[in-house]
Amino acid sequence: MDFNLLTIFPEMFSGFLKSQILRRSIAAGLFQIHIHDLREFTNDKHRSVDDTPYGGGPGMIMKPEPLVHAIESVSAKKSGTIRRIYLSPKGKLWSQTEATRLLKYENLILLCGRYQGIDQRVIDGWIDEEISIGNYILSGGEIAAMVLMETMVRQIPGVLGNQASLKQETGSDADIEPPHYTRPREFRGRVVPEILFSGNHDAIASWRQQQRQQPTKPKSKRK
Ligand SMILES: C[S@@+](CC[C@H](N)C(=O)[O-])C[C@H]1O[C@@H](n2cnc3c(N)ncnc32)[C@H](O)[C@@H]1O
Repeated sequence: MDFNLLTIFPEMFSGFLKSQILRRSIAAGLFQIHIHDLREFTNDKHRSVDDTPYGGGPGMIMKPEPLVHAIESVSAKKSGTIRRIYLSPKGKLWSQTEATRLLKYENLILLCGRYQGIDQRVIDGWIDEEISIGNYILSGGEIAAMVLMETMVRQIPGVLGNQASLKQETGSDADIEPPHYTRPREFRGRVVPEILFSGNHDAIASWRQQQRQQPTKPKSKRK
């Protein structure tokens, strides 16, 4: 899997790329992440990527030329299947199922919008699908692109130290992950459920199974 980010804020990804899971997996060749600065695809001396909207209205719109130039030049260097995605609040809502679906492509191009969004002709002519990470408006697609990548890469075999942890996660197994506890046994008056110390693996498994079926409850307010 090869992720290609198109953005006017490449520096936003530097902290993300330093996380241990990503660094280790990229070094092991499990996937790659390439960050492309959209301003490198402009051809005016101000390296401008935006312009005023036709018909008037507030804000600026990302111009088609640098976006299409970037999509075409990145695509031309790739072999294998490619999916070109625009992160957009109007897109299909992101989910674990969507993450699994997109893993079948060898290359993803993730176009991060800014300002009031991008020229519609880019979406119509050069984008395969739009994806939203939630029903709210971000200032740009960069954080949304990180959400997509982080959800996807943890499903790539070898990325997580312990593949079993992936299997029991909420969302991947159609129900809810049971609660987890670690030392100390008692913390500020809150104790770990007794069953977890029983040594009875069948009883623990059945307690966990029962916990998986509990709907998530709103937590009572802290004093
Ligand atoms: C300020 S938003 C533009 C919103 C646009 N005017 C609208 O109402 O649809 C700028 C960029 O942030 C990204 N973005 C905003 N909300 C998003 C969301 N919920 N999911 C994915 N990307 C989002 C998109 O790339 C968008 O082009």
